[in-house]
Amino acid sequence: MSVPVITVDGPGGAGKGTLCYSLGSQLGWHMLDSGALYRVTALAALEDEIPLSDDDAVAELARHLKLSFVPAAEGLTQVLLDGRDISLAIRSESCSAAASKVAAMGEVRAALLARQRQMAVAPGLVADGRDMGTVVFPDAPLKIFLTASARARAERRHRQLMAKGESVTLARLLETIEERDARDRNRAESPLVPANDALVIDSTGISADSVLDTVLQEARLRE
Ligand code: C5P
Repeated sequence: MSVPVITVDGPGGAGKGTLCYSLGSQLGWHMLDSGALYRVTALAALEDEIPLSDDDAVAELARHLKLSFVPAAEGLTQVLLDGRDISLAIRSESCSAAASKVAAMGEVRAALLARQRQMAVAPGLVADGRDMGTVVFPDAPLKIFLTASARARAERRHRQLMAKGESVTLARLLETIEERDARDRNRAESPLVPANDALVIDSTGISADSVLDTVLQEARLRE
């Protein structure tokens, strides 16, 4: 019997992480944060001073990452690289920018594919990313494409950073979000597009609870 998978794709900051965590908790399913794989690869490349123009070397690194995800308090996940906690380091703005660059490399994507598919184990998987429904799990019975306007996503990220005491202007955030979107949408390898059979949800001005209700209803229809 194949393991049920719900894919949640979309641009950064649209609320995929929150939706996936709530879905995973309600359904009791595993979760895949595929973006973390690209972030860890980027961090390892930066630390090893591998130029982000050297696709072969970055892919070689991606193939041999000794990585583990450990559930932590309050729905957070600890990301360990060679046993070292890098959960915070992979969320820095420099790592985010580098992640979107390594994610454009076809060899790196191929190197990370098997790891992602191995996560589909019973009772089910909620997979968060950009190409979960189009490339990694094309047979998933429920595919969501969650989007929101760039401004709404920048405002959300701005609130999160302010709460953490980090100062960055809304204009600068909007600019980086638009740059990253363009790179994800226009790349040759696994560009960010909704799967043909995806349910597209625009979360601009909609509460996280209401998005969750819609997706749970769809999931029940497919049981
Ligand atoms: O989702 P998150 O922001 O953590 O992803 C980090 C980067 O990894 C994104 O900017 C995107 O370029 C890339 N990514 C990807 N495919 C995925 C998940 C993330 O290309 N499935």
